[in-house]
Amino acid sequence: MKAQILQQLRKSKGIVSGEILSNRLGISRVAVWKHIQKLLESGYQIESGPKGYQLIASPDTPFAWEFPAREPNYHYYQEVSSTMDIARDIARKGCPDFTLVVAEKQVNGRGRMDRRWESPAGGLYFTMILRPEISLVLSPLLNFAASLVLSQTIQETCQVEAKVKWPNDILVQDHKISGMLSEMEAEADLVSFINIGIGININNTPSTDVPSASSIKSITGRTHNRREFLSEYLNRLEYRLRNQDLGTVIAEWKTCTATLGRQVKVVTRTGVTQGTAVDVDEGGALVVRIADGSLKKVFYGDCFHNSEKGKGRSV
Ligand code: BTN
Repeated sequence: MKAQILQQLRKSKGIVSGEILSNRLGISRVAVWKHIQKLLESGYQIESGPKGYQLIASPDTPFAWEFPAREPNYHYYQEVSSTMDIARDIARKGCPDFTLVVAEKQVNGRGRMDRRWESPAGGLYFTMILRPEISLVLSPLLNFAASLVLSQTIQETCQVEAKVKWPNDILVQDHKISGMLSEMEAEADLVSFINIGIGININNTPSTDVPSASSIKSITGRTHNRREFLSEYLNRLEYRLRNQDLGTVIAEWKTCTATLGRQVKVVTRTGVTQGTAVDVDEGGALVVRIADGSLKKVFYGDCFHNSEKGKGRSV
């Protein structure tokens, strides 16, 4: 109902009477008033007077009712431990493909390699539950598709150059502004679900504990609408996954990466690989030319770029 009230208020661009809303939506005027009160509590600015209601401003919060076409499979929370935990539970219970878990804040946001992911208000934190009919070996390509589309969305909606860093980070001006964590379950050789969790520093200010981190707002000097951003990203990613072959993803990803050609250090649980990043193979592994001239493939890990000035700054 909130989605429908907002649609009517946005369509009219002026004052809409309680009577018109009640007739169009098939609910009582008291029910209209109650929904308006809820919208006010949620941060919408709505003026009410003798002639009716007028929408003055909307918050950029990605409430479920702002995504009417997705609402049945869109779970929005004000605060959670981690969207990954909720996503895993509902995926195991059999939720449909492209179900979303979105949170305003996370108190136990998880990063890769057992790190924490700071998740204060102002950022975007969500997990997508995907059920592609693909074999296990192709599953990393979904992460590459998700990061590729994210870099394109940032570039086109925020007007800043965004690069992908192996495996799935997003850098803007060499600062990490987004990270991705994925968890998967499979039966035999077939993926039953892959949950891709994304954290994007949009309007928040990341703590100085992570010197390479920044936010889109800090870099562009402007606040960005998180609701519009998320809507654009989900539409673009869904379109790509439904209409384009995953086989083209790596080639396209390579055209917008900041990793290839750089001196890198890749840290895994079992060791460190250093050298020049020369390629990403068809399965998503990073190919590094090491000191003795041979090529070594790295399948996962934290990748650190040496800065162009050669100071070894990690991003
Ligand atoms: C990384 O770069 O280490 C990955 C960070 C992933 C963070 C996102 S925020 C939404 C989802 N929920 C989590 O707890 N983590 C991921």
